[in-house]
Amino acid sequence: MAILGVEQLVYGVEDLEKAIRFQDDWGMERADSGAHGADFRLLNDTTVHLRDAQDGALPPATIRWLPHLTRSTLREAVWSVDNKNSLDAIGAELSRDREVKTDSAGVLHTVDDSGFHIGFAVTKRKEIVLTPTVNNTLGSYPRRNRQADGVRRRRVSPYKAGHLVYWVPDKLDEAARFYVERLDFRPTDNSPAMRFMRANGSNDHHTLLIQQQDNTWGFQHVAYEFKDFDEVMFAGCHMETQGWKTNTGPIRHNVSSTCSWYLWNPAGGVSEAYSDMDYVDDNWVVGWNDPKAPGSYGVSWAVRPGKRRARPAEWIDD
Ligand SMILES: [Fe+2]
Repeated sequence: MAILGVEQLVYGVEDLEKAIRFQDDWGMERADSGAHGADFRLLNDTTVHLRDAQDGALPPATIRWLPHLTRSTLREAVWSVDNKNSLDAIGAELSRDREVKTDSAGVLHTVDDSGFHIGFAVTKRKEIVLTPTVNNTLGSYPRRNRQADGVRRRRVSPYKAGHLVYWVPDKLDEAARFYVERLDFRPTDNSPAMRFMRANGSNDHHTLLIQQQDNTWGFQHVAYEFKDFDEVMFAGCHMETQGWKTNTGPIRHNVSSTCSWYLWNPAGGVSEAYSDMDYVDDNWVVGWNDPKAPGSYGVSWAVRPGKRRARPAEWIDD
């Protein structure tokens, strides 16, 4: 059984027009839109679906956060599975203690142990292989007589949805255990309030992070992978130019190594643009990151630390 990553994301949204504009600006291809909402497709064929928050066909919202941040949120995350045998094995495993429904497209729908709605589908995603960005450094000049790829401003698009983050108010280990013990996710790093893990069919440092935060429950962010540092900067700069608010970034994380830029998304929570994540396998040594220790979880640099960014209370989605 191999889970590969994120296949589909379904949001229930209060202001569809605004949320559609955000995904357009983010560089997603709009495959379809109308009164019902809109469907977007990433370059690897992951799909993102926006629906009216009142749409009765959606799973209920599962979120407790600042009130103005609860009106729009992710309603369901569908994980990519490598083949039908894996899908059947997941269905059989989870059916032991919860209801698992199969829809007409063959997608399984259920809930995790924290109450979040999840699904599983045989993947339709494409594998993307990019050529590395060529950088010069002192004494080493692989890019000769040629300018850097990043010198010309351009619109960029996310290649894939790499990971999800959920908040839980308590029972952090129980929340993570569901994914590790029932779905074979592999722990990759821990801190007192964070459990990072990767799906067994992915070498990304994390495809899922569960984070404990008092009085908070629900979807926090989805991270979209871009080619390289310049593309993350192009994406973030473009979003700010279009009026969207930065939550955090640009930064370099010291868990998973990503260069990241997080923006508040009117569809719900935050969208992260990232590149250069650690590629790990079963030889990876699971780390423990104490926030009080030097070099622990956090960032190695941040362009806008502290208050020079929009915190949840400051991001008013209206
Ligand atoms: Fe992230």
